[in-house]
Amino acid sequence: MTADTVQIEVQQTTQSRLQEVDFNNLVFGRNISDHMFIAEYKNGQWQDLRIVPYGDLSLSPATAALHYGQAIFEGMKAYKNDAGEVLLFRAIDNWKRLNKSAERLCMPQIPEEVFMNGLTELLRLDAGWVPSQPGCSLYIRPYMFATDPYIGVKASDSYYFIIFTSPVGTYYAKPPRVKVEQHFIRAAEGGVGATKCAGNYAGSLYPAKLAQQEGYDQLIWTDARDHEYIEESGTMNIMFMLDGKLLTPHVSETTLDGITRKSIVAIAEHWGIPVEERRISVKEIIDALKAGKLEAAFGAGTAVVISPFATIAYEGVDYALPEIKEDSFVNRVKNYLTDLRTGKEEDIFGWMLKV
Ligand code: COI
Repeated sequence: MTADTVQIEVQQTTQSRLQEVDFNNLVFGRNISDHMFIAEYKNGQWQDLRIVPYGDLSLSPATAALHYGQAIFEGMKAYKNDAGEVLLFRAIDNWKRLNKSAERLCMPQIPEEVFMNGLTELLRLDAGWVPSQPGCSLYIRPYMFATDPYIGVKASDSYYFIIFTSPVGTYYAKPPRVKVEQHFIRAAEGGVGATKCAGNYAGSLYPAKLAQQEGYDQLIWTDARDHEYIEESGTMNIMFMLDGKLLTPHVSETTLDGITRKSIVAIAEHWGIPVEERRISVKEIIDALKAGKLEAAFGAGTAVVISPFATIAYEGVDYALPEIKEDSFVNRVKNYLTDLRTGKEEDIFGWMLKV
């Protein structure tokens, strides 16, 4: 299959739901656009590529993914420029990361042309769903799951790859209060922490629920062995500004190689801001907080974009983070990314793709 030979059958909806959406009050994850792209993996190849109206799937109760969790996903975003054209941010990086997850979960690779042609065709059809309101975008959810109707434990022989989209506003309504987790873990060496597999998110729900009952919005995960080193936060990578430097835990087999994270690192380096990607101990951050030296702590991810934390809680103490100043790195990089994604800033990194 090549980009020119990918055949996608398109069945357009006769009942668009676009008029039902209040684009001035978008809530993350509530509205799903009119169409979805589906490809099926059978007999060793991707086939039956189609775009159909968004709707329910019919699946066997024995569907392998529902039992043994062969399910992976990506999160990416599209934006509109002032001319109303649709721009995709770093789509190839999401395709590559999906295939890395697929390899670890023993799932088939998705050819670039299936991913990219499916995605761009879908966006052309649902271009009207891409918001132009400030702070809004079209969230894109590509995912793959095992479909064999079989109850023995083995890698499935059949899969669905689906992409649907959702116009979204901000993920966190206000700066999150996060708590350093010292008992539960997200990932251990040799595990699947570096993948975007469904189980990583399922396993995080219970510890997150306990933290929410204590009044926090999210956790900061620490290493599985000693809970001494910071790994990432739920739904986002984590970054700090300390002594004028950008600090972030290095990517490892227990953390997600976040695309927003690596974009921020690249922009900081381009601006001549010192960046340290390394092990960061909880103690280093708490000491800096106690000394009033931590300039900012923030989450970075596709869904959350850049979310400065309001509070970090550790061993029963809440440490408040300082207000983010207008001219701070956090604000500058957030504005720069927004301008890049909406075509207002020149794409010097080659990250944008016009659909
Ligand atoms: C994303 O940032 O796109 C994610 O995948 C996080 C999410 C589970 C909302």
